[in-house]
Amino acid sequence: MGDVKKGLKDLQPAGKRALVRVDFNVPVKNGLVGDDSRIVAALPTIRYLIEQRARIILMSHLGRPKGGPDTKNSLKPVAARLEQLLGQPVAFAPDCVGPEVEALARSLQDGQVLLLENLRFHPEEEANDAGFAQRLAALGELYVNDAFGTAHRAHGSTEGVTHFLRPAVAGFLMQKELDYLGRTLESPRRPFVAVLGGAKISGKIDVLTQLLGKVDRLLVGGAMMFTFLKAQGHPTGKSLVEDDRLDMAKAVLEQAKARGVELVLPVDCVASAAADGSAPGRTVRLEDLGPDEMGVDIGPESVKLFAAKLQDAKTVVWNGPMGIFEVPAFAAGTLGVARAMADLTSHGAVTVVGGGDSVAAIQQAGLADKFSHLSTGGGASLEFLEGKVLPGVAALDGI
Ligand code: 3PG
Repeated sequence: MGDVKKGLKDLQPAGKRALVRVDFNVPVKNGLVGDDSRIVAALPTIRYLIEQRARIILMSHLGRPKGGPDTKNSLKPVAARLEQLLGQPVAFAPDCVGPEVEALARSLQDGQVLLLENLRFHPEEEANDAGFAQRLAALGELYVNDAFGTAHRAHGSTEGVTHFLRPAVAGFLMQKELDYLGRTLESPRRPFVAVLGGAKISGKIDVLTQLLGKVDRLLVGGAMMFTFLKAQGHPTGKSLVEDDRLDMAKAVLEQAKARGVELVLPVDCVASAAADGSAPGRTVRLEDLGPDEMGVDIGPESVKLFAAKLQDAKTVVWNGPMGIFEVPAFAAGTLGVARAMADLTSHGAVTVVGGGDSVAAIQQAGLADKFSHLSTGGGASLEFLEGKVLPGVAALDGI
């Protein structure tokens, strides 16, 4: 999947200002970082550059601020967390461009770390404005992109900057993500099984099509299963069904058949009158789903079925939860599949989870260390699985 990119080991960064794009888009509440896994994931790159005696300038976005700086989206709490994790001071710049930031960058000593304020406080970042990218580039003497989670965005700090600053290489996290997601798709050990969930097939059609060309088996859960089930003539009650995508669902079913891919749909579900947990859930066979009920999770028989279909897998890729896992009463399906997959890892299978909600569910279940790789990218991992070229990756130096 794409060319091999140059990495940190291709650099001689001692004494140089390394401008490093990281994805520190983490939840912050009351001035404190919640889930710090994205910061932790960037530590190998940062630590390596410290050991190599580079002068490290980190830059990231946080949230989607519109209309300039605001305290809520400041990266300052991230600097504090990073300082704890690194066990050394992290200077914080009040902006990401301008004379004051340039002076801070130039005053860095070997092995010191500076974090810039939120790139998106400048609308030029998302507009990929060349002048802005050039100002960012002026801060460093070499560029490292370790922000896999933002690699699907052609922004000033991910793409634009590389027009003005070389070498431009991938950080360790970026390489690990490309390696796992890429290797999984390109040369999987078989059987190769994909598990797809989430609400809508419309958002996943490209990934469905891409995976159908690669996998031996495709297990479908989440609300999108109901569009498939309706296309097969099953009752779906008040479940989320994309009526305008029934043809798409039929086409996917036919394509799977034509390619000899076993497409497995659930046999039961948890049904409820409300999606938010305000009404109780009951387990039903799919044919018994009432007209006023909606499916909110896959049922226990489906978890067993999915676990059985996963049992001989040597490679598994998973994207999207099996139900509304944020509601504890509707989380059993997602957790059951997560456990089955965690078991596989301990038996030598490669298990890769493509970001976003499924990763959140795994972390919630305390199973994070039981998978081969949990992607730090939501949208980015989905686009990668769709076979798209990520602009932040394409912009880096090839080998
Ligand atoms: C993410 O959280 O998926 C990345 O940090 C990208 O954020 P964005 O969707 O706001 O561009």
